[in-house]
Amino acid sequence: MKGFLFGILTMILILAVGLLFALTGFVNMRADKPPSSMETAIAGHAVDASVARAATKLSNPVAANEENLAAAARLYREHCTLCHGDPAHPKAPLNDSLNPPAPQFMDDKADMPENQNFFILQHGIRWTGMPGWKNVLTDQQIWQLVTFLSHMSDLPPAAKQVFSEAGAQNQPASGVH
Ligand code: HEC
Repeated sequence: MKGFLFGILTMILILAVGLLFALTGFVNMRADKPPSSMETAIAGHAVDASVARAATKLSNPVAANEENLAAAARLYREHCTLCHGDPAHPKAPLNDSLNPPAPQFMDDKADMPENQNFFILQHGIRWTGMPGWKNVLTDQQIWQLVTFLSHMSDLPPAAKQVFSEAGAQNQPASGVH
């Protein structure tokens, strides 16, 4: 019984020291400094578990045709390239500026189930640079982006063209202003 009490008291002490450490400014909050491997592991699992629990089991209503993928490419170019990269910029400009880092989708495919990607796109991920988009994009546009993420490695020419220089100049992002 004595050992048990001692264990509990030690745990409370460790938690109190940890809290004091954080509240007095010793946890570095810089976005360009990688967090510890413990934080990365715990937070990563917590995000995955939270999304898996919260995302409604919806199936994707958008067809993976050329029209939808080209529309999604324009949305992606407008809103996502800066952090996640695109075929013309596989390493995003903000690649080294975010922690946790934004996955670089050209090398690191978005392989979560589509309903989970839909949920992440709608709501974002707290304490990371990933914004929620539901006040900016319609559900239809979000599903188009989800479809685009699933087909990034086999895009049709009309979608690829959006990222070429000529495509970038000629095709404004549609319907999001
Ligand atoms: C300001 C930077 C930023 C922008 C803009 C942004 N994201 Fe993200 N995104 C992130 C970060 C950072 C993460 C990683 C979050 C984490 O580690 O939990 C992320 C995570 C994701 C994920 C989850 C990936 C996975 O496998 O866990 C998806 C899907 C995603 N973003 C899609 C998009 C799409 C599509 C857009 C454009 C509509 C977009 N993001 C715009 C920063 C951004």
